[in-house]
Amino acid sequence: MAKTVTVGLIGAGFIGQMHSLTFKSAGATAWTPAITARLKTLAERDETLGREIAARYGWETWTADWRDIVTDPEIDLVINAGPNHLHKEPSIASARAGKHVFCEKPLAGTADEAFEIWQGVAGTGVNHLCAFTHRSIPALELARQMIDAGELGEIRHYRSRFLLNMLTPDAKLSWRFSRSKAGLGALGDLGSHHIDQARFLVGEIKRVGALTKTWSRDAAGQITDVNDDAFVCAAELENGATASFEASRVAGAHNLGGWIEVDGTERSIAFHMERLNELTIYEPGRGPRTQMITKEGHPYSDFWLPIGIQGQHPLGWNDCFVHQARHMLEAVALGNPVAPRATFEDGYRVAETVDAIARSAASGRFEEVRFRS
Ligand SMILES: NC(=O)c1ccc[n+]([C@@H]2O[C@H](COP(=O)([O-])OP(=O)(O)OC[C@H]3O[C@@H](n4cnc5c(N)ncnc54)[C@H](O)[C@@H]3O)[C@@H](O)[C@H]2O)c1
Repeated sequence: MAKTVTVGLIGAGFIGQMHSLTFKSAGATAWTPAITARLKTLAERDETLGREIAARYGWETWTADWRDIVTDPEIDLVINAGPNHLHKEPSIASARAGKHVFCEKPLAGTADEAFEIWQGVAGTGVNHLCAFTHRSIPALELARQMIDAGELGEIRHYRSRFLLNMLTPDAKLSWRFSRSKAGLGALGDLGSHHIDQARFLVGEIKRVGALTKTWSRDAAGQITDVNDDAFVCAAELENGATASFEASRVAGAHNLGGWIEVDGTERSIAFHMERLNELTIYEPGRGPRTQMITKEGHPYSDFWLPIGIQGQHPLGWNDCFVHQARHMLEAVALGNPVAPRATFEDGYRVAETVDAIARSAASGRFEEVRFRS
């Protein structure tokens, strides 16, 4: 029988629009039962944007005040797509009001704040999902299954790079560039995705040695606490594997270059975000082969239209957000566990790792990653 989850969304910016599109789409997938997201209230402080996005995606009402969502007894699920400094208060208030919470990444600008959010929400018993969307990319889910099944042998290395350009022609900087509003820059914004993937695929990070760089200046003079533009980090994982992370938001020629590679004693695998439907598998004596992740039996192959009748069609980034939306809706409507998608505990653990990397860049020494419980 079809089920309905009533949703409130905070923030109608870039990713709020993505969630509007993909929570709407999640009701029309092949997974059963059908779960429809009723898009009830959109909270956006910019009235023009809020009204436009509400009309475009079919939100029933717009409000400037996110507290209207928290106090609405009809709303089951709150999507927090506000800037990082807006993640804490509405997420905790929503959970205390008995609403399930889906919050954007990074969970917070610091590990202290991320811990408060995790503790504040987990204590209420509601479901919580932190939007590390890479966990819903079919090729990376297949990579995880292969690693868990031992197909790569013992894992020796994890390697990742995330390169893009966030600079605008007018050289004005957004809230993302502000340490007080966003937390860390390339490290917190981009690095957090790949740190979570290392944890998802291989395991927890034990110690880190890093370097950060900042070149950007705000032409408008508004952002005076500019955070890091780029970082590089060498790490050791708890299972003894080595890891490396690099991210830059000032790599002007890159659209969205994301590379994730894992090497084991038996096989290696490589993923590139711009070739999202593919996993390259390296086997001794055979060299690399590229596997399209669109065949029957691959992760999410049963999610969209039946596969194989008219060929195997590729998926895109938006589709991965629909996968993620469906997992959240299933947690609310069916009581399914959020894991192995990222919970707020994962959001906290990534934030603790990000803080350790920043500490290492400041101290010039390797730093241990220590978790609170
Ligand atoms: N999962 C991903 O891959 C991914 C991708 C991009 C962004 N994000 C995350 O999504 C979040 C938002 O990023 P974005 O790119 O959409 O930013 P954005 O600046 O485009 O949008 C944020 C919106 O929130 C609104 N807002 C600010 N304060 C508000 C308030 N008090 N009440 C209501 N609305 C308010 C702003 O007016 C703006 O429209 C960030 O945490 C970011 O890191 C995640």
